[in-house]
Amino acid sequence: MLDLHDISREFRVGPSSLRVLDGLSISFSASETVSITGGSGSGKTTFMNIVGLLDKPTSGRYTIDGQDVLKAKSDDLAALRNRLIGFVFQSFFLLPRLSAWRNVALPLAYRRTPEEDARRRAHAMLERVGLGDRAHHLPSELSGGQRQRVAIARALVGDPKIVLADEPTGALDTKVSQEIMDLFKEINRDLGVLVMIITHDPRIAAQCGRRVVLRQGMLVAEENVGAEMDAIALERFGAARLPVQAC
Ligand SMILES: Nc1ncnc2c1ncn2[C@@H]1O[C@H](COP(=O)(O)OP(=O)(O)OP(=O)(O)O)[C@@H](O)[C@H]1O
Ligand SMILES: [Mg+2]
Repeated sequence: MLDLHDISREFRVGPSSLRVLDGLSISFSASETVSITGGSGSGKTTFMNIVGLLDKPTSGRYTIDGQDVLKAKSDDLAALRNRLIGFVFQSFFLLPRLSAWRNVALPLAYRRTPEEDARRRAHAMLERVGLGDRAHHLPSELSGGQRQRVAIARALVGDPKIVLADEPTGALDTKVSQEIMDLFKEINRDLGVLVMIITHDPRIAAQCGRRVVLRQGMLVAEENVGAEMDAIALERFGAARLPVQAC
C-alpha cells in the first residue's frame, strides 16, 4: 500500500547541499510491524517525515494505495495525513492544559467532528489503551508510560492506516517500554494498522516482523522475520507483505 521509489532528500546548508536520503526504494503493506534502526544521523527521522507526509523528498516517487501523494497540494496533503497517519513521538507532545481525552480528540477537531462524537471516540480509544479511568487527568498528572498511551490513543482516534513512531520508548524504562511495545503489537494485530517504529533499542526492533536498517541515508539491510505473521495478515486482512524493490 505504501510504495517509495528512488527517494532522495537533500537539504541546503549554506552554499552546499547535504544528501540525507540516497535513492531509497521500499514498499510496505498494511498490517506490518516495521522497525527502522541505524546510527544517529543515518536519516531515520528524515525518512519517517517523508513517509508521514510531513516532508517531501527532493526526488523520487511515493504512492499510497496507488495515489501519487507527492503531487498533492499542501492542503490536500494535510487532509491525507490527518486521515491516513497517526504519529507518536519520544516526548509525547501532549498539550499540557488539555485533559487526556481532549488531547486524544485533537485530530478529530481538525476534521470538524461534532464534539459529542469526538468525546465518545476519544473515551473509547482511551479505554482501548487501558486508560479509561484517566480521561480527565492532565498530562502532568500521568506517568510517562500513561502519557505515551494517551499519545497512542491520539494517533489512533482518527482510524489511520499507518502509525509512525519516532523513538516511542526512548524516554521510558525497560518494563514500561515493553508494555508500550505490547500495545503497538496489539494495535497492529487487532486493527490491521501498519506500525513503523524508529528505535535504538534492539529489544524493541527484535519484536517487529520486519527490520529495516539505514546507514548514511541508504537501506543497508533488511530482515524479514514475519513470514508467519504475513500468513495471519493475509487471512485476516487480505493483505500480504510486498517485497523490497531495491536495497
Ligand atoms: N532540515 C534540515 N536541514 C539540514 N540538515 C538536516 C535537516 N534535517 C536533518 N538534517 C541532517 O540530516 C541527517 C539525518 O538526520 P535525521 O534526523 O534523519 O537522523 P536520524 O537517523 O533520525 O538520527 P537520530 O537517531 O539522532 O535521531 C543529519 O546529518 C542531520 O543533520
Ligand atoms: Mg531521529
